[in-house]
Formats: sequence, structure tokens, C-alpha cells
Amino acid sequence: MQPLVSLDGLTVAFNGVKVLDGISLSVGRGEAVGLVGESGSGKSVTWLAALGLLPKTAAVSGSVKLEGTEILGASPSNMDRVRGGRVAMILQDPASALNPVLTIRRQVGESLALHRGLSGAAIHAEARRLLDLVGIPDAERRLSAYPHEFSGGQNQRIMIAMALAGNPDLLIADEPTTALDATIQAQILELIRRVRWETGMAIVLISHDLGVVAENCDRIAVMYAGRVAEEAPSAELFDDPRHPYAHGLIGSLPPIDGPRRRLTAIAGTVPDPKAMPQGCAFAPAASDKRFGCVELRSIQNDRRVQFCLLRGRRTTGQSHQRKSMIISITLGRTSLVSIQAKSLRSHALYLVFERFSFLAQPCVLGFWRIGSTQFF
Ligand SMILES: Nc1ncnc2c1ncn2[C@@H]1O[C@H](COP(=O)(O)OP(=O)(O)OP(=O)(O)O)[C@@H](O)[C@H]1O
Ligand SMILES: [Mg+2]
Repeated sequence: MQPLVSLDGLTVAFNGVKVLDGISLSVGRGEAVGLVGESGSGKSVTWLAALGLLPKTAAVSGSVKLEGTEILGASPSNMDRVRGGRVAMILQDPASALNPVLTIRRQVGESLALHRGLSGAAIHAEARRLLDLVGIPDAERRLSAYPHEFSGGQNQRIMIAMALAGNPDLLIADEPTTALDATIQAQILELIRRVRWETGMAIVLISHDLGVVAENCDRIAVMYAGRVAEEAPSAELFDDPRHPYAHGLIGSLPPIDGPRRRLTAIAGTVPDPKAMPQGCAFAPAASDKRFGCVELRSIQNDRRVQFCLLRGRRTTGQSHQRKSMIISITLGRTSLVSIQAKSLRSHALYLVFERFSFLAQPCVLGFWRIGSTQFF
């Protein structure tokens, strides 16, 4: 089935410095997708770019499709219809996203007029219903209040009400609970769950909190240094993370039961976009031997992982032309595939994966484990 929104090769650079490097991600109708990753890994920029909300200094390329129609670079009037009407975003900082000099009625009403064609009393009634829905007490009276008259948690709810005003098919919630205390966090998440249940809206939940994402999402994408390092159904990612960064992220969570253990820390920091290492961005944090990444996709389920290649020897074939070599892949104890690859670029290795997957489908993601010993 056609996804609701699909990003393909989305790349963003600010003043020539690449901060997103070919993000591909899709969200189906009604689906809940989590996006996690360290600060600065590009989670917010991904969706700001997709919705055309980045400043002009950003160079954006790739593709963003809404039900198959390209929207990257669409005209401002078309984007006005998409934003809020089809895809709404709760920005990371609600206090600065609300206009301090406009009443709540004006701000919620704007969206109702633009996307639902309402006016006058109908706007008032619907704005009131939305405020009720998000749990603002005394909604009738508070419609004429200004953002500074509300608490942080209430402003967050008002942002959600504004986002819901256009009946979007997809809500991007960027850290919707980070600034809130634990009880308000739980209420906001419960609210989002309830609205999804009532409307069938899809959601992308961006969060630092793995627990929140796992509890609320069907699928999780883990970002690292402007790329999707791993994507998998939530339970599978937790049970069996494949990318070393995802592994580290999950290993750094304290266990709920069982004996106490020392938590794993992820070595190093996300590399500075201005000084991105050649090849695999995870290399400095993991091993100085990695020199490239390929993305492997399972054709059995919707898992994918960026697989780091290790420097080493060519195992078979000796071509004097540097650009042509034979790659041999060893899986477990058996060597399965040899294929001539034109270069070390990812498409060549993607072919390897496809050939390979016919032979031993369940082992496709086993690559990661053997990768540490057997590449050139
Ligand atoms: N307007 C901008 N101009 C220049 N660089 C920017 C701009 N916006 C974001 N960046 C850079 O893009 C990279 C990704 O930023 P982004 O805000 O997407 O990170 P994030 O994953 O959302 O982090 P956090 O978890 O802290 O919100 C960072 O290196 C950031 O400095
Ligand atoms: Mg962010």
C-alpha cells in the first residue's frame, strides 16, 4: 500500500555543511513511528525540511511525497494547504511557537478558517471543543486569554489543539513532553493516544525517551549523525538491536528487573557536521577501522540497518583495476556469495544483499555480526 508520507534521500546542508545525509523514511496511514537519536542527529531538521519550514540558508534535496505526490519545493500556496491540513507539527519549543500577542481563539481559529473553511460562531464553537478535547479547563473563558496566561503544560496542550484543528492525517510531535514534569508528560501522551484512537491519525513521535517511543510507536527509526542508522518494529529493536549505536542506546537503559548492572555508555560524541569522517559517521565512536556504510534491508519484515564495512583484505579475486573487485561474504561458518562489485559504493553491496537474500533469507540481518571479521 502506498505510504501516507515517504521521504527519500532527503539531504540538508546549511552553508555547505551537510546535516542530513539521505534520509529515507515512510509513514503509513494511521501508523505511529518513533524517531530517536542523540541531540543534533537531525530529527527536527528532517521534518522541518519535509514541510518546507527551514530558513532559506538551508539547501534541501531529495524527495518528500504525500500520498505519492511530490511536495518538496511545492508552491507556498500548496504547502499552506499541506501544513496543518494534511501534516501538522508540534514544534519542539511550544512557548516560542505560540504568538504572544494573539489570543488563543485567534491562533486556533486561524487554522480552522484556513483548513476547514469555518468562520464566525463556528470557529468559536470548534475552538472551544478543541480546548475541551485537550483538557484546558473553563475553555469558553480561556479562549480569550494569551499564551503567557497559561502554564508550560497548558501551552503544550494548546499547541496540540492547534495541530488538530486542521484534522491532519499525520501529526509530527517533536519532543512533545520533554519540558514537562512526569505527570503532565503522561497526560499529554495519553491525550495523543486518545486522539489517534478517535481519529485514526498517523503520528511521528520524536523523543529522547526510548521508553516513551517504545510504548507509543509501532516502528522506531534510530538516527545518528544525519542518517537513519537502524529502523525496526519497536519490539524487535529492543530485543535485538543491530547497529552498534542502537545497541549502545538500548544498553544504556537501566533494566526494570533482574540484577543491577553497570550501564553501557556510548563512546565519543556525534561528529561535528563540519568535520564528518570519511565513510561511516559512527566510526570515531565505535572503531577506527570502519570506513564505509551500506544500508541493508530485510525483505522479510520492515527492518533495515546501516552496516559498517571494516577495512581489511579482499578475500577473493585480485583485480588490478581498483574499481572492480570480487567480494566474498561469509555468513557464520559458510561462505555464501561472491559477486563482482564495480566499486565500494552502496548500490554494489546492496546487490550483494539481494542475491544473498534468496539464498538465506532469515540470515539477512546476520550480516552485522559477521561483518566484524570478514570484509576487505
Ligand atoms: N537553522 C539552522 N542553521 C544551521 N544549522 C542548523 C539549523 N538548524 C539545525 N541545524 C543543525 O542541524 C543539525 C541537526 O539539528 P536538529 O535540530 O535536527 O537536531 P535534533 O536531532 O532535533 O536534536 P535535539 O534532540 O537536540 O532536538 C545540528 O547540527 C544543528 O546544529
Ligand atoms: Mg530537535
